[in-house]
Amino acid sequence: MIYIAVMGHGVVGSGVVEVFYKNLENLSAKCGSEMDIKYILDIRDFPDSPYKDKFTKSFDDILNDSDISIVVEVMGGLEPAYSFVKRCLLAGKSVVTSNKELVAMKGFELLSLSRDNNVNFLFEASVGGGIPVIRPIAQCLAANDITEIAGILNGTTNFIMTKMIKDQMSFKDALCLAQSLGYAECDPSADVEGDDTCRKICILASLAFGKHVYPRQVFTQGITGIHLEDVSYAESLGHAIKLIGRAVRLYDGHLSVTVYPALISKDCQLASVDDVFNAIMVRGDATGDVVFYGKGAGKLPTASAVIADVMDCVKHISARKYLYWQDGEDGYVADYRLDEHAFYVRGTSQIDVTSAMLGGLVAGASAEVLDKIRETFGTVRFVGRQDANDGEIVFITGVMREAAFTQALDRLKDFLNPESVLRVMDY
Ligand code: HSE
Repeated sequence: MIYIAVMGHGVVGSGVVEVFYKNLENLSAKCGSEMDIKYILDIRDFPDSPYKDKFTKSFDDILNDSDISIVVEVMGGLEPAYSFVKRCLLAGKSVVTSNKELVAMKGFELLSLSRDNNVNFLFEASVGGGIPVIRPIAQCLAANDITEIAGILNGTTNFIMTKMIKDQMSFKDALCLAQSLGYAECDPSADVEGDDTCRKICILASLAFGKHVYPRQVFTQGITGIHLEDVSYAESLGHAIKLIGRAVRLYDGHLSVTVYPALISKDCQLASVDDVFNAIMVRGDATGDVVFYGKGAGKLPTASAVIADVMDCVKHISARKYLYWQDGEDGYVADYRLDEHAFYVRGTSQIDVTSAMLGGLVAGASAEVLDKIRETFGTVRFVGRQDANDGEIVFITGVMREAAFTQALDRLKDFLNPESVLRVMDY
């Protein structure tokens, strides 16, 4: 009999226990071993739970019980999860986690500890909820030289933006709904400010390119600055706005790793990914583009990934699965200001002239301002809409470096008050 402990009984933890017992017979048959959950760790009481006899408030019960060979960490947050996981690995117990913050911050150290102690440290559920992506990158795509990974990695923000666009729901109401469905983090600012996507792209980049990428190295912007006007302009341009986490290997071996909302063409598969769904595109030299799609958050999809890892641990109870990356270093991730792309700018003219028009497109913008924009950015594409606000100007630049764009926009400050700046992706 293989005994498991589950640390945390929140949305994901309760899902793990539920799916485990619902499918136990099947799971045991697939693994060729009997297994059971011996402890559930949580500081709260669950007197009505059918598993109430398994609850403990003491981590030491798990640590000191030599029956426990696999520990599931679904508490979330860095502490005490980090200390608990470290001690479990040092004690020779394999660990399965859904905790992206933990893996993004401490992945290298914990993988090293698991290697040194000949146990497993698995984290399929940390990226993409129920979508298999960690194992496919580590195993199925292992023959490829991966050059890029890009994806919609946060279910909550994708859900919020979809509800705002398709159901005209307010940001606040959509966020409340995402929280009630168990998609959002305890502190949803990690979702909407892009930190959750940042952690996930760090994990994917570390895995695909072999060296740890730390969240502090990644330029990260969330969705709080997105307005419905921008969504409607993007629509008229044949684009969608999506929060994209992206890691690209540069010609010199460094990486570009970024998180921001961007305009992507409706022809790209990522543009049609709505609601809580995530999609991850992996570009391999042998396979070309491979796209993984599915529910990126929620109790049962995440539990599915956790339990699959538990089963892998059961099947490799006295062997270690090779999963490892090296430590990263400062400078490994290039300065995002060297990245090049086109930019979408929505702003208001600082000059109070409302007579000039550009073929009826730019309502309310003065000819002087339009000339200044052209002079500063070179060829730009102006975009208009019906009922634009007075002085509203929207344009797309050509492809240029981030640093050059920032300087150019600054030179326009006496003419244009920028209200929204978004990157336009090349797909
Ligand atoms: N808050 C996360 C999301 C949960 O919305 O994607 C899954 O990691």
